[in-house]
Amino acid sequence: MVQRVAVVGGGSSGLVCIKVCVDEGLEPVCFESTDDIGGLWKFKDSTEPERSSIYRSLVVNTSKEMMCFSDFPMPAAYPNYMHNSQLLQYFRLYAEHFDLLKYINFQTTVKSVTQRPDFSVSGQWDVVTINRDGEEERHVFDGVLVCSGHYTHPVLPLSDFPGHETFSGKCFHSWDYKDADTCRGKRVVVVGIGNSGGDIAAEISRSAEKTFLSTRQGAWVIGRMSSNGLPLDMTAITRLNNILMQLIPKTLVNWAAERVLNQKYDHRLYGLQPRHRLLDKKPLINDDLPGRILQGALVMKPNLKGFNGSGVVFEDGTVEENIDAVVFCTGYNGNFPFLPPALSDGSKGELTLYKRLFPPSLQHPTLAVMGLFQTKGPIIPVVEMQARWAVKVFTGLSRLPSKEKMLAVIESERKRNMKSYSCPRQAALQVDYIPLLDFMADEVSSVLYKSVFP
Ligand SMILES: Cc1cc2nc3c(=O)[nH]c(=O)nc-3n(C[C@H](O)[C@H](O)[C@H](O)COP(=O)(O)OP(=O)(O)OC[C@H]3O[C@@H](n4cnc5c(N)ncnc54)[C@H](O)[C@@H]3O)c2cc1C
Ligand SMILES: *[C@@H]1O[C@H](CO)[C@@H](O)[C@H](O)[C@H]1NC(C)=O
Ligand SMILES: *[C@@H]1O[C@H](CO)[C@@H](O)[C@H](O)[C@H]1NC(C)=O
Repeated sequence: MVQRVAVVGGGSSGLVCIKVCVDEGLEPVCFESTDDIGGLWKFKDSTEPERSSIYRSLVVNTSKEMMCFSDFPMPAAYPNYMHNSQLLQYFRLYAEHFDLLKYINFQTTVKSVTQRPDFSVSGQWDVVTINRDGEEERHVFDGVLVCSGHYTHPVLPLSDFPGHETFSGKCFHSWDYKDADTCRGKRVVVVGIGNSGGDIAAEISRSAEKTFLSTRQGAWVIGRMSSNGLPLDMTAITRLNNILMQLIPKTLVNWAAERVLNQKYDHRLYGLQPRHRLLDKKPLINDDLPGRILQGALVMKPNLKGFNGSGVVFEDGTVEENIDAVVFCTGYNGNFPFLPPALSDGSKGELTLYKRLFPPSLQHPTLAVMGLFQTKGPIIPVVEMQARWAVKVFTGLSRLPSKEKMLAVIESERKRNMKSYSCPRQAALQVDYIPLLDFMADEVSSVLYKSVFP
């Protein structure tokens, strides 16, 4: 009988996992290495190694209606798109309402999670933690929910760019970016047009002398505000759209939607034109970028090629001289140093996961990895459903297919995504919002059905 479940991390994923365990009559024990809940959303003025870090101005890119926990709406006074401090406050309210704090061991870091010697029979895990006094403690758990986040190890690809050793300006990662204060009056290049790159470039362009945004691929840029002023995700992620997407050829949807976007601002004229079609990748959610470009404070540039003294060289041969700083918004590597290496695919250390949740190689499915995916909608509701399914699988109420079947599903989903994402790692991370939620909800509810009509 699965009873005690370790929850690694006390961010939003950890909190919902604790709650789901309690709902199901299990005993969750959560370990959180910092002294507070909230994970990524706990803003700090400075960075600490191996911890996530956000910038001061960060505002969510998913609406409060769509991103909240299913049984705990956001306070009525919250705006549709809130500042990071309000989201942290929401997590505090959630933890208080469901009395979750008492399950969390703060300042306790999980050092290792390994299968017990009798794992083939018991499915149990040895968990070693380091407490606030630096002492190691050993625990035995029936299940493990990994909620440790994956924005902790910034990728700074400096060595890809010749001349970086002699570049006279500063180079740093968006992980190190807090606000634009240090950029006042400077000439700054921002590299990468993910959500962070777009936000940071737009913000810097308000105080810098000149800001350049370098992108390899371009992006379709969509504002948070959709038709009639409603939140983008509320109007985009609907059952109707989900059905239409299955009926209408993708090329037609792309053509029509790109036309609408270009009517607002022609992506080509603005230097944003992507090589990919709209539906192929997540669009960039940003309200300010086009306006900053229109006002000339922000200048779009192609891919970075290298450095030369104080100059930054781009792939079209242009050079911007006297650059003071380059901000690399080049993303993160997932990192799970405490997990058994056998769960990764070896080469790059990426976790192989069935439905982005379960390592297929385990003899007993008593470990699940939460939130390690990318999607066009909010993360939290998906993680909540992941937690529900994971707990059903742990307790044997829901069953996973055979290892071979799971590996085949993983491979076919990755192959399908490779059509839009050329990078295998990126391809493996993508999930379709409504279809995945439906799939997991089916797994969870078929259990209910079976328990009523055995
Ligand atoms: C800049 C940025 C903006 C984002 N904006 C949105 C948005 O608007 N909407 C949205 O839905 N998603 C957004 N996301 C995605 C975001 O990751 C999720 O919303 C959510 O924060 C993930 O929560 P988590 O609990 O899984 O991870 P985290 O919030 O990272 O929490 C992980 C926790 O685990 C702890 N931990 C790690 N390792 C250990 C260990 N070994 N032992 C003990 N504790 C450990 C950490 O201290 C941390 O508290 C954004 C992400 C980024 C980077
Ligand atoms: C919101 O921003 C984060 C951080 O860049 C990103 O990972 C996530 O995919 C974005 N969400 C959407 C719906 O675009
Ligand atoms: C670097 O800049 C100098 C002076 O502007 C120029 O002569 C040189 O060719 C440049 N080097 C490269 C590799 O572009």
